[in-house]
Amino acid sequence: MARILITSAIPYINGIKHLGNLVGSQLPADLFARYMRARGHEVMFICATDEHGTPAELAAAKAGKPVADYCAEMHQVQADIARGFRLSFDHFGRSSSQRNHRLTQHFAGKLADAGLIREVSERQIYSIDDGRFLPDRYIEGTCPNCGYTSARGDQCDNCTKQLDPTDLINPHSTISGSTNLEVRETKHLYLMQRSLRDRLEAWIDSKHDWPILTTSIAKKWLNDGDGLQDRGITRDLHWGIPVKKGDQPWPGMEGKVFYVWFDAPIEYIAATAEWADAKGLPDAAWQRWWRTDMGAGDVTYYQFMGKDNVPFHTLSFPATILGSGEPWKLVDYLKSFNYLNYDGGQFSTSRGRGVFMDQALSILPSDYWRWWLLSHAPESSDAEFTWENFQTAVNKDLADVLGNLVSRVTKFAVAKFGTTVPAGGAFGAQETALIADLGARIRDYETLMAQMEVRKSAAELRAIWVIGNEYLQAAAPWTVVKTDPERAQAQIRLSLNLIRVYAILSQPFIPDASAAMMAALGSDDWTWPDDLPAAMRALPPGQPFAVPDNLFRKITDEERADWQVRFAGTRD
Ligand code: MF3
Ligand code: ZN
Repeated sequence: MARILITSAIPYINGIKHLGNLVGSQLPADLFARYMRARGHEVMFICATDEHGTPAELAAAKAGKPVADYCAEMHQVQADIARGFRLSFDHFGRSSSQRNHRLTQHFAGKLADAGLIREVSERQIYSIDDGRFLPDRYIEGTCPNCGYTSARGDQCDNCTKQLDPTDLINPHSTISGSTNLEVRETKHLYLMQRSLRDRLEAWIDSKHDWPILTTSIAKKWLNDGDGLQDRGITRDLHWGIPVKKGDQPWPGMEGKVFYVWFDAPIEYIAATAEWADAKGLPDAAWQRWWRTDMGAGDVTYYQFMGKDNVPFHTLSFPATILGSGEPWKLVDYLKSFNYLNYDGGQFSTSRGRGVFMDQALSILPSDYWRWWLLSHAPESSDAEFTWENFQTAVNKDLADVLGNLVSRVTKFAVAKFGTTVPAGGAFGAQETALIADLGARIRDYETLMAQMEVRKSAAELRAIWVIGNEYLQAAAPWTVVKTDPERAQAQIRLSLNLIRVYAILSQPFIPDASAAMMAALGSDDWTWPDDLPAAMRALPPGQPFAVPDNLFRKITDEERADWQVRFAGTRD
């Protein structure tokens, strides 16, 4: 039994995430967590909401709520939706928690002690009417290069020229529209990542088994241009974690907060501490997952995220961990994903284009989405959601292949032999062949799942469902029963056991359907079929079972057409 720590990138608090966000981190992380638990390993699966930063402040202002209230409400909304998708977090924390405040301040203090923090004076735009410094992208004006009138402070979207906000002609605040702006001097803390460059490079080079997508992004940032840059870790905002050196004030930093990307990954650790607090456990209970001096030496740590998050997890967060000089756990394996596109374009949160998590659950149960998303995960390249493709996958894989097998077998069994597992006959050559074939496929499935090959695992699971259908088709108990009822009983006994094995194997992908299958068979034995011949005899003759409600319904052409129009854009 191994100890496995799994974190999913923590979603921003503002707004409900779309299916592309879901499949890029939380859902595959859940698949892996469920699989590892099913194999008997000790798993700690952590996620949280990412609550700081300007976008959270602006979303709260737009909603007309104090930012702390807005975050508390949105956290609850996201937690409920996560439950709806059956995301099996051990804890869903909040980056605004006191645990994260203390840990973030602790790390900053350690980095300062190690001589890795320097103070930098900067000239930044202050909006007098907004009463705040403006981040570059909240300043717009006319591009000095091409004359485009909506150029942002960091870049002109028209001619792509990189800009400094002070370059803009007639700059104004995008928050209030005010042009009452001035340049003010302000001091910030910088983490001296450059001096950690060689250690970071050596660490990344030691990760031979990481996906190319992960290491290529990390290498690019290590080596591009001037290489890894020192990074500002503080901001002039009201909402965030106050800048402190451990539990001591930081002279000159009063009124400032840590940058959201500094505190967010630390929340992985803090959320585990929140988990221990919620369970009334002592600090040692979370430290044994994170501190190698407290028992985390035998933990294997996996992270899941979209490719845009990779630089922060291969460079910035490890710089915090390594620079602290303390024995915190570094990630062992980083699984990253490309993007999921939506019906010929991109998902767009601002334009409401595509399906958002709450909407998805309002039209179909979570298993339908889980199956499509995982079986089409954007691993080797970007992937695309289309309604045609979704309809086909649901109707064929779930309804025709798996659902149909379950209903045919259980209905036939009840009609011919009653509501208990039939006792007659014995397994013959066909059954032995199926068990051998199935056994080999299960071993392949295990290998793919352990390697986090999400799409390939789904394809293998589907193949496992298919061979059950092929067996049933060839065995034809509905014909055999007329001449050799004993033999038909053995065939049905095998098929009922097969359904139970399918429930166990499919549970990481489609947990609700698996639970319904297991319950229908009157069993609660989820033991992984390491010994398949034994597993195929696990349901004893005479055990009662029932026909489950239809596991999967088909998506009609009318529904498909309707949804296509409904989710094309402009939410609300
Ligand atoms: N909130 C970020 C996003 O959605 C991810 C933060 S991951 C963490 O892109 F490392 F910061 F936790
Ligand atoms: Zn321009």
